[in-house]
Amino acid sequence: MKQELIQLPKIIDLRGNLSFFENEKQIPFVIERVYWIYDVPGGETRGGHGYKTLNEFIIALSGSFDVILHDGKNETKFSLNRSYNGVLVPKMCWRRLENFSTNSLALIAADQSYNELDYIRDFTEFQKMVANEKH
Ligand code: TYD
Repeated sequence: MKQELIQLPKIIDLRGNLSFFENEKQIPFVIERVYWIYDVPGGETRGGHGYKTLNEFIIALSGSFDVILHDGKNETKFSLNRSYNGVLVPKMCWRRLENFSTNSLALIAADQSYNELDYIRDFTEFQKMVANEKH
């Protein structure tokens, strides 16, 4: 799995548009958990961690924010501001969310339940783990 922007189907309708995603179809994994981040005060950053084995998919259901990914070498910024676009965040990728607009809503679908042991909370440790993986 690699980091990428995924454009979801958009069913355009005068009554209101509709988008969706399903397990192993629009996203390449089976969802085990969904959580969302909301009421973020201006200027705050969420995230700032990586996962050892978890993969996730992040959508700006409402409003906008930036998803910044670091693979241990390069940093990539994905600006989300459409509810039919999402970012696939693979395991072993440092990720942070920032620049939230007022009333923005981040929806995150993950392929594992919450497990603090899967988190990498220290960026230096993350970089060491990436370096070791490549040997
Ligand atoms: P965390 O993922 O650490 O958010 P951030 O990196 O943005 O600070 O989540 C914050 C806290 O919320 C975490 O300490 C435990 C709790 N939490 C759950 O209990 N279940 C979940 O699914 C998530 C994502 C977090």
